[in-house]
Amino acid sequence: MSQYSIALVVGSLRRGSFNRQLGRAVAKLAPPEFSFHEVRVDDLPLYNQDDDLAPGEAVKRLKTEIAAANGLVFVTPEYNRSIPGVLKNAIDHASRPYGQNVWAGKPAGMLGASVGAPGTSMAQQHLPNILTYLDVPTLGQPEAFLQVNEGFFDAAGSIANAGTKAFLQSWMDRYVAWVNKITPR
Ligand SMILES: Cc1cc2nc3c(=O)[nH]c(=O)nc-3n(C[C@H](O)[C@H](O)[C@H](O)COP(=O)(O)O)c2cc1C
Repeated sequence: MSQYSIALVVGSLRRGSFNRQLGRAVAKLAPPEFSFHEVRVDDLPLYNQDDDLAPGEAVKRLKTEIAAANGLVFVTPEYNRSIPGVLKNAIDHASRPYGQNVWAGKPAGMLGASVGAPGTSMAQQHLPNILTYLDVPTLGQPEAFLQVNEGFFDAAGSIANAGTKAFLQSWMDRYVAWVNKITPR
């Protein structure tokens, strides 16, 4: 059975990030041939084009991990109706130098959790604009805009509500089919 290694890119550095918890909970819904690896973005410097030809270790690590991945899942909060700067910074790093965009061609999925009712819907409008330019085929449906409240996760870090879990399982099933469609084996 072919193995798929999926890079999980979380757009929050917050210790108790709901989005990181969501990413980890959703990864548990994947079939056994899919493994998820959370990429580290908290130690990346602010992107500076002057450093393109002499990237630091953290940048090299990010690019190596993305290049090795068979797919991407972005799980991000919405900051002021867009994606957080930390996520844009990571995306910019791995898109450069010009002509060496390692995101290109990787099938991507998007999820987001917010404490507010919009549930990251605006951030998830902006993210595909960026990903389309970077030649990243991004799953459009089902959209997953989640509002987190107390008890959203159970003690084991899984999705507590049966209906929400079933919805996220359907999201994962569609994502798995998407990866297989874009990169058939
Ligand atoms: C700078 C900032 C801007 C925010 N803007 C939004 C927003 O536009 N929409 C929204 O639903 N929540 C917004 N929030 C609230 C986030 O949904 C909330 O902080 C959430 O917990 C962030 O995700 P995390 O738990 O993964 O860090 C904002 C939070 C911060 C810190």
